[in-house]
Amino acid sequence: MENKFKGRSFLTLLDFTKNEITELLSLSIKLKKEKAEHLSDKPLFGKNVVLLFEKDSTRTRCAFEVGAYDLGMQVTYLGPTGSQMGKKESIKDTARVLGRMFDGIEYRGYKQETVEILSQYSKVPVWNGLTDKYHPTQILADFQTVLEYFGHLEGINFAYFGDARNNMGNSLMIGSAIMGLNFKAVAPKSLWPEESLVKKCRILAKESGGTILLTEDPILGSKNADVIYTDVWVSMGEPEAVWEERIKLLLPYQVNKKIMKNAKNSAVFMHCLPAFHNEETAMGKTIYEKYGLSSLEVTEEVFESNQSVVFDEAENRLHTIKAVMYATLGENL
Ligand code: CP
Ligand code: NVA
Repeated sequence: MENKFKGRSFLTLLDFTKNEITELLSLSIKLKKEKAEHLSDKPLFGKNVVLLFEKDSTRTRCAFEVGAYDLGMQVTYLGPTGSQMGKKESIKDTARVLGRMFDGIEYRGYKQETVEILSQYSKVPVWNGLTDKYHPTQILADFQTVLEYFGHLEGINFAYFGDARNNMGNSLMIGSAIMGLNFKAVAPKSLWPEESLVKKCRILAKESGGTILLTEDPILGSKNADVIYTDVWVSMGEPEAVWEERIKLLLPYQVNKKIMKNAKNSAVFMHCLPAFHNEETAMGKTIYEKYGLSSLEVTEEVFESNQSVVFDEAENRLHTIKAVMYATLGENL
């Protein structure tokens, strides 16, 4: 059977239908099982991928590298410095060069437009490893984790707390709308997603049976939730100066014991990571010294609780990213 994913890019979740996302998740679950049973036969042996990172990463970079090696591929990593990209060479020219040498390109950086230009001009699959606007591969890992804990996606009450107009807020809303989850963005109005995206998602949700609700009320937002999700309050690329205002705005939306208690007893806590939940990081220490807060978007108590599934999510980054590379580069699935 023809592989319908072959040659396609993954720039936003809007690139795939509900059925296609379901297929990618099934493939990922299969690859996870095969890896546990040491069954991988390196189906993409001889192919080469390049990873472009204009921002830092632990999970995404490692998932692309380990995933590529597991599939039999070679990897080239280009970090924020050391290549000509964007400085002496345009993205369009870079795309045409890399497309001649590599079978696939991963990009993490600032503008969504950059990943679009890479895809348009390289003529090979391009995977979005995070831009300011979207983080689509993360959502596949999140949804695989939800499937593992609840057995289904449709009808899951999914509450996202925090900066609801960042890459995570946008992508979780799109993913929920496509897959039929009941998505709540729980945030102050100034951090709600763009109206045009909300509109688009409401149309998608109508088709899938999901719902989209925006609320400023953390109690209403967490009520009956199956999943309480949060992300950092200041994203990569935002200026340090926004911390003070963001803390003021988002402290009422911190995920703590009270929020978890208001959700269903069976609720899980999720976070794409990295998270500020204690003072064990340089940044965490600075925040503590400046604002007297030892945790920000999630308390240490919730992060370390039995309800927290954040490391399952982190592991699933590997399997889902591997599934995306396999589906878009492989001959047969
Ligand atoms: N969640 C995520 O994308 O993590 P990294 O920034 O470590 O890649
Ligand atoms: N919103 C966060 C996500 C990190 C995975 C950021 O962009 O920094």
